[in-house]
Amino acid sequence: MKLSSELENFLKKYNIKDYSLLKYEQSRYVILNNKDNYYYKLSGMAGDVAESDLHYFLNNAHFPNHLVSSIIDTELNLRIIKSSPAPGRLVQDILYGGSHENKLDKNFIIKMMEWFKWQHTESRRLFPKITDKYFICLGTIDEKYPKDIYSLVGPGIDLNAYNVIYDEETHRYTPIDFEIAGWVAEDEYSRRNWVAEDEYSRRIFNTIKHVMTKIFNPNLNNSNGWLSIRQYPKVLDYCIEYMYKEIL
Ligand SMILES: Nc1ncnc2c1ncn2[C@@H]1O[C@H](COP(=O)(O)OP(=O)(O)O)[C@@H](O)[C@H]1O
Ligand SMILES: [Mg+2]
Repeated sequence: MKLSSELENFLKKYNIKDYSLLKYEQSRYVILNNKDNYYYKLSGMAGDVAESDLHYFLNNAHFPNHLVSSIIDTELNLRIIKSSPAPGRLVQDILYGGSHENKLDKNFIIKMMEWFKWQHTESRRLFPKITDKYFICLGTIDEKYPKDIYSLVGPGIDLNAYNVIYDEETHRYTPIDFEIAGWVAEDEYSRRNWVAEDEYSRRIFNTIKHVMTKIFNPNLNNSNGWLSIRQYPKVLDYCIEYMYKEIL
């Protein structure tokens, strides 16, 4: 395969020879370095290759389940996010990757809420001066872009099944896809990951609803079908109360 010069220069400078290319889309690559067993996500997009609050957050937050760092390489004109493998399996594989019954239960949603709390607590620790906005280190789904699958349900947070690793035994929940929020847009990069309270709560609410309906879809052939319609409002209520009591 013919490698782009961006990737080629990166592999050379960082001395990476034995790797798997997991993903490639215009100026964005994800590789797994088989030697050090780290994932490297590269972006050459102008907004990414600059100091930002996301860059600072990734380098200073104490991630609970895996190691994460962000490098801005001005020589190669790349932003590199390096992360160790998160424990468990990609949610996409848990849901669709085999015939065994998945063991997902409401802990999955509870752990997602705890992760939101962790993100909030770390952002307040790292950016003590910002008290009127809420930080999101993941990509967001905006209503402005009609092609987004979320466009019917309002803006959310991009915790799709390819972006979360979950351990069904220990219930460790790990989002892995960190982004400058709304990276398709071009303005105000460094502060984009901050949103006002009403937008933040709306995004979390939409994400909970969306994830719950997707995860507990009775049409999934390996679903353990725990979530009856009567349980749904109880879990939703728990999550909303949790958000108001523990985060906002
Ligand atoms: N730390 C990690 N642990 C396990 N898998 C990872 C990790 N980082 C990336 N991956 C794998 O690489 C894929 C793409 O990574 P992601 O950060 O979502 O990139 P993109 O922005 O291109 O969607 C993920 O779906 C996952 O399979
Ligand atoms: Mg992704």
